[in-house]
Amino acid sequence: MKPVKIALMGAGLIGREHARFLKANQEAELAGIADPAPSAQQLAAELDVPYFSDYEDLLSHVSLDGAIVALPNSMHREAGIACIRTGIPTLIEKPVADTEEAALAIIEAAGAADVPVLIGHQRRHSPDIVRAKQLISGGQLGQIVTVNGMCQIKKENQYFDNLWRQQPGGGPILINLIHDIDTLRYLIGDIHSVHAVTSNNVRKFAVEDSAAVILKFTNGSLGTLLLSDSVASPWCWDLNSGQGAYFPHTPADAYHIGGTEGSLAIPSMKLYKHADGGDWHDPLIVEKHEIAESHAYAAQLQHFIDIIRTGAEPLIGARDGLMTLAATLGVGRSAAENREVFMDELLPMAEHSV
Ligand SMILES: NC(=O)c1ccc[n+]([C@@H]2O[C@H](COP(=O)([O-])OP(=O)(O)OC[C@H]3O[C@@H](n4cnc5c(N)ncnc54)[C@H](O)[C@@H]3O)[C@@H](O)[C@H]2O)c1
Repeated sequence: MKPVKIALMGAGLIGREHARFLKANQEAELAGIADPAPSAQQLAAELDVPYFSDYEDLLSHVSLDGAIVALPNSMHREAGIACIRTGIPTLIEKPVADTEEAALAIIEAAGAADVPVLIGHQRRHSPDIVRAKQLISGGQLGQIVTVNGMCQIKKENQYFDNLWRQQPGGGPILINLIHDIDTLRYLIGDIHSVHAVTSNNVRKFAVEDSAAVILKFTNGSLGTLLLSDSVASPWCWDLNSGQGAYFPHTPADAYHIGGTEGSLAIPSMKLYKHADGGDWHDPLIVEKHEIAESHAYAAQLQHFIDIIRTGAEPLIGARDGLMTLAATLGVGRSAAENREVFMDELLPMAEHSV
């Protein structure tokens, strides 16, 4: 079988990772890189692939089977729709877009052109999350009652030299917490409401450095999330899973999921149950569930190749990406307005148009 020809738009931090995984997959061919940065031109030369400073030029000069959009969030709409109009399946990095309106425009364009769109929430492809989904769906935990997630990391000071990272929208809610929200939506179900407080007490930037969030899910489960980019701790999936593209593997648990029949810690995959289906008077038995050796980004790319080749349904399409984005934006809105914010009020347009 001939490899599928995939273009890369944006060869920055994550775009370079995509380039690496594209080069490593024999079913794919990196068909071109579009990015005005001199470092991207250099990368294209090193990888011996066609280079364009403008992604429209790439789209019009190279015959493609698919494209990956790894551009700044504000460009996802314009570049995503350009790819969709070319008729090629498109992997758009998370978040689907920077606003709900922009996400809706992508959804509408994809629907009109009948082109599949995959959103780059790579944790859904990670073997621990895949296994957790199986255990929860298979009823091993019983009814899910509670869930707790943490993303507490210490980012380096130079990270904030990019001034947009100091401004609203450039903080850990949209960059990091969105992954946790998407993972919990995938494992537990849709979110009904969010209630949050945020703080900039450590870094003193206009944007938050920390947040505490209460979630209600539509199925009645309750959740809490703790987020900070200023805490020296091991509690973050990127560190714990061993899947992170650029972090040392630090075993610990980022999620605890509580059910009526048992509780699961992720990614250690320890499932706790009382002996003989008993209660707190009975010993807790720990089952350690093994997971596959696969890598989330590589599995995501393989899924994208399947979408291109077989028309497989995207594991997370643009509409699903919008639901994750809306809940994440709701965290910021809740903190700003100091109240519980409901998904229904965040998605009035989506309810009608999607
Ligand atoms: N899934 C993940 O794990 C993950 C991790 C990091 C970033 N991301 C997402 O990926 C996207 C990119 O983030 P990043 O951290 O790589 O950003 P980045 O700033 O490192 O890279 C963006 C690249 O886009 C290029 N660019 C800007 N304008 C362009 C244009 N008109 N045409 C082509 N290229 C252009 C820039 O030169 C830069 O190289 C964001 O949406 C981000 O949320 C996802």
